[in-house]
Amino acid sequence: MRWKATVLTLFPEMYPGPLGLSLAGKALAEGAWELETIDIRDFAQDKHRSVDDTPAGGGPGMVMRADIGAAAIDAARKNAPAGTATIYLSPRGTPLTQAGVEMLAHGPGVILLCGRFEGIDQRVLDAREIEEVSIGDYVLSGGDLAAHVVMDACVRLLPGVVGNAGTHDEESFASGLLEYPHYTRPREFEGHIIPEVLLSGDHEKIAQWRREQAEALTRTRRPDLWEKWNRR
Ligand code: ADE
Repeated sequence: MRWKATVLTLFPEMYPGPLGLSLAGKALAEGAWELETIDIRDFAQDKHRSVDDTPAGGGPGMVMRADIGAAAIDAARKNAPAGTATIYLSPRGTPLTQAGVEMLAHGPGVILLCGRFEGIDQRVLDAREIEEVSIGDYVLSGGDLAAHVVMDACVRLLPGVVGNAGTHDEESFASGLLEYPHYTRPREFEGHIIPEVLLSGDHEKIAQWRREQAEALTRTRRPDLWEKWNRR
């Protein structure tokens, strides 16, 4: 069965967007994965098709209604493969990691609930047992761009989407270290030459050099990852 993403959104015209291009787009066209978008507004019950209301307790902004969110989620779950995870994109969520992406990509697919406004009524997240996931410590104006990020990170791991089977092994985060730097022709660029060892043909030396570079980069740029790597 092919991996399926179902997106619940107020902006269905944002999809597939960038995921219709490049590797993900080619895989989508070839049927390697499937994308269904559901317009949350289709579940509104008034003639203005409103989905939000003022926050209980007062304060700024608007909150997505629980009844409308729940109806949209129930509709999505009906059409999704059994065992599909449901995620609400939110800066309050558990941080997305490569390990989390791998889990999602190995499953049957994902339902992604995208909010706007101040958020969604907490009761729908509790009643439908929805995980909250954040793509980083900054605030976007809504969940849609985060949903694209989650799908892109998953789709590139699906079998056959990224050509070379070994491609993922040495990427940043897969091993726990940031990836070593890459070079290609020309040999000299604005006075800078490719590190000699890479032109030596000595594969053992090259592997060692790349490993040292990966370690040095991780140590200086990401002390948090470096500490984890050394504790493994
Ligand atoms: N919605 C708004 N900001 C977000 C973030 N950082 N991650 C996921 N969803 C979001």
